[in-house]
Amino acid sequence: MELIKRPRRLRTSPALRRMVRETHMDASSLIYPMFIAEGENRKEEIPSMPGQYRYSPDRMGEQLQRLQDAGVGSVLLFGIPAHKDETGSGAYDPQGIIQQALRTAKRDFPRMMFVTDLCMCEYTSHGHCGILCGQDVDNDKTLEYLSRIAVSQAQAGADMIAPSDMMDGRVAAVRKALDANGFENLPIMAYSVKYASSFYGPFRDAADSAPAFGDRRSYQMDYHNRREALKEAALDVEEGADIVMVKPAMAYADLIREVRDLVNVPVAAYSVSGEYAMIQAAAAAGWIQKEPAVIETAVCAYRAGADIYISYFAQELAEYLRDGKLGRTGA
Ligand code: PBG
Repeated sequence: MELIKRPRRLRTSPALRRMVRETHMDASSLIYPMFIAEGENRKEEIPSMPGQYRYSPDRMGEQLQRLQDAGVGSVLLFGIPAHKDETGSGAYDPQGIIQQALRTAKRDFPRMMFVTDLCMCEYTSHGHCGILCGQDVDNDKTLEYLSRIAVSQAQAGADMIAPSDMMDGRVAAVRKALDANGFENLPIMAYSVKYASSFYGPFRDAADSAPAFGDRRSYQMDYHNRREALKEAALDVEEGADIVMVKPAMAYADLIREVRDLVNVPVAAYSVSGEYAMIQAAAAAGWIQKEPAVIETAVCAYRAGADIYISYFAQELAEYLRDGKLGRTGA
């Protein structure tokens, strides 16, 4: 048959396939999310996230060492306080769990980068991401608290602040507060495009942060919308976000691409707890193979346009990269 164009020609050998490969990744772009709980000598497995643990600050070093050895240099920290209250005061307490964890981590792992999640839902007794006014979250009041928490995290040594609350105007408010306190060089990675998603379920078990009533749909986005995602991303860049994020990743690759094409800052994609749980569960049942599924999922996020990938599989991904199973040398 006379065929001039034969796309299969470029797939004929591993060397050729690697040469024309369009998507590459590097361990330096990985961020590992980690839960730190108050107390001592604690390492507890999260039931809905097998292989993920809550560590007390004195034991977090075990996991940080493994990450560093694998080549993962960045961690996103979530604090789980012993006591929660109406205003989430544990979040801005200088002796709070995240502040303690930051001081320990910065002392013991000076070469690693520590990003702090900035939100109130892990700290409030009602589990919502801000200060309540009746049954709703009061946007502008919450901004005052978020600013205060951000400054407290910065003072404890955070290398980057990641607001995940989805309040309007939080990036501008946090930027202003950081600048006023001498942290004008501390970057903000905004959870700009954050959907109200069922895939956060295991995280809420891990952080004990499910809302006591209602849901988060008055602040997190409706997943039927894409134009709105572009509005949120553009707004955050205007307000001073240094990096914007799309979350979740797996069911939202279209938005990763659209945001990548719209903004001129790095784009992060967060592969959330439910995505992790699904792969682990299917692999444990013998229904899929874990390693190729983890690799394929990560490559999708990068192919869609992510510059940074936040994943509970970060350590495995860095090991696969190191072992030549992924990236320029992978199959
Ligand atoms: C805090 C926050 C959540 C996640 C990251 N930051 C929970 C939520 O919004 O309900 C979810 C991460 C995950 O599922 O892995 N607001």
